[in-house]
Amino acid sequence: MCGIVGAVCERDVYAILIEGLKRLEYRGYDSAGLSLLNNGNITTQKTIGKVVDLENLFGESLPSGTVGIAHTRWATHGVPSSINSHPHTSGPISVVHNGIIENHSELRKEITEQGIKFSSNTDSEVIAHLINLNVCTSNSLREAATKALSRLDGAYAICVISTDDPGKIIGARSGSPLVVGLGIGENFMASDQMALRQVTDRFVYLEEGDVAEVTKEDFSIFNQNGVLVERDVTQINELDQSSEKGEYKHFMEKEIYEQPKAIINTLDGRLSGDDVLNNIFGLGSSEIFKKVKRIQIVACGTSLHAGRVAANWFSSISELPTQIDYASEYRYRNPHVDEDSLFVTISQSGETADTLAGLRYAKGKNYLSSLCICNVPTSSLARETDYSIFTNAGPEIGVASTKAFTTQLVALMLLALSLAKSRGRNPKLRARVVAALRALPEILLESLKLRDTIVEIAPDIATKDNALFLGRGIFYPIAKEGALKLKEISYIHAEAYPAGELKHGPLALIDEDIPVIAMAPDSEIAEKLVSNLEEVKARGGILYVFSDPSISMEIESGKLIKMPKCDFLLTPIIYTIPLQILSYEVALLRGTDIDQPRNLAKSVTVE
Ligand code: G6P
Repeated sequence: MCGIVGAVCERDVYAILIEGLKRLEYRGYDSAGLSLLNNGNITTQKTIGKVVDLENLFGESLPSGTVGIAHTRWATHGVPSSINSHPHTSGPISVVHNGIIENHSELRKEITEQGIKFSSNTDSEVIAHLINLNVCTSNSLREAATKALSRLDGAYAICVISTDDPGKIIGARSGSPLVVGLGIGENFMASDQMALRQVTDRFVYLEEGDVAEVTKEDFSIFNQNGVLVERDVTQINELDQSSEKGEYKHFMEKEIYEQPKAIINTLDGRLSGDDVLNNIFGLGSSEIFKKVKRIQIVACGTSLHAGRVAANWFSSISELPTQIDYASEYRYRNPHVDEDSLFVTISQSGETADTLAGLRYAKGKNYLSSLCICNVPTSSLARETDYSIFTNAGPEIGVASTKAFTTQLVALMLLALSLAKSRGRNPKLRARVVAALRALPEILLESLKLRDTIVEIAPDIATKDNALFLGRGIFYPIAKEGALKLKEISYIHAEAYPAGELKHGPLALIDEDIPVIAMAPDSEIAEKLVSNLEEVKARGGILYVFSDPSISMEIESGKLIKMPKCDFLLTPIIYTIPLQILSYEVALLRGTDIDQPRNLAKSVTVE
């Protein structure tokens, strides 16, 4: 969602802030701004548009300033505009904010009554004024900020600078992530360490309620009770290739092709012989799994689709019932929690506000334990969950999730196997699936070769306004994921249905203007699915069917595309690949902003 970068250095920080914003831009991008502190003055520049528009404001002459804060915004309160962009200022104070201040209306009223005029329509501006109002009764900027923060309800990560207290940045987090980056004789802050990888590989992750005071030589962190605390310094070793597209046109394209390698990384060190290793979800997890009687999954977007596929595996492999909820709905339905239930969250970023809120809510319930499937080991979700497994997919930059999804599926399969192993269920089936997992990266490479065929059908879909995706059983969530991918990046309206439901409504839509994209693996209901597709044909529908080689069907309008063979339980992963490529090729033809589709953000850190 929105992104924050801050720097306090000996050198000018402008270039560091701009590079940091560019690295975060995929998270929120309707406007951008920065404040630089130079010789006791703060200069603030803001604009609607992308980071490059902000750069253009400065032209050739790069501004000076050794302390600065910067922000990319994804509008929540107040339209995207240069006035509503961050930083927000009040007297000597300049502030950037991620999150949502829920009591902003009452605070705005209270502040206005004190004769202070607001310049924007944002919730964030109250923070700047509140800090300023506390300056005269405080001994330091940190004290003024802490007093102001105590008035806020909602979620925030903030960075503050002041002309009264130059040479430092105050940062704080509650509900939105913030990290301190450590350099030599210079220090930084950001909402994601990725923003700072060009300047450091050493980070301190703030915990909930922490307030940090950062100067160029030093940093100190105070917990929610105002007590000075030590936090671990984490050294990140992985090579940072995330910001390079290399030979690819888009990050999404690159990430689609990274999937075979990403899956190798997800499996690495987690299998042994023909079974999963014990405790791959953390020390003691295999013991806990023996007790599990039920699973509750909570996630959003693509991650939720991964959970829906996995619910089938938990049933057939682990012999456990699963309940699955949208994270934004879960805690509002007053869920009944059965004894010995395992609470599972799935999240690429580990920072999705609703998923995190779901976990925090679940902690107050009688769950046996919590577990997360996540791609970011340093994320809030990973740090707050009892057990976890990291998908090791590497940074995913494209807003539309690709490699995060398929690696989540692999990690969820490892969970199904681990639960089955701890519960002493289905040893032969486990061995079969482990062998299939080992073969999976090779089969994915075969799937990727379908691109030429997909390039041929993409123009037929790119000219349509609607599309229908069909799948049955474990393929219904894959149909939903295919529809989500297409709508996210091509802006074509797409819906998914279990094929058997067609005749209960959607069949009325079928004509030559609504392409039907179906998945027909070799399953026990393959014949029934083919009958459903015949119903589409009989009504003049255009069919694009991704099918097992054994399935025969005559398709006059559309195309039958034969998929590589693979163990049925893993076919959802294989069939996802052509759907990703299809949405990518269609979006290319429609000329949309593929990596940063309109109105969407990669990591949704507000509820
Ligand atoms: C946003 C992204 C989706 C993602 C969803 C959940 O909507 O655009 O790609 O699936 O958030 O994100 P998470 O990081 O929790 O998996």
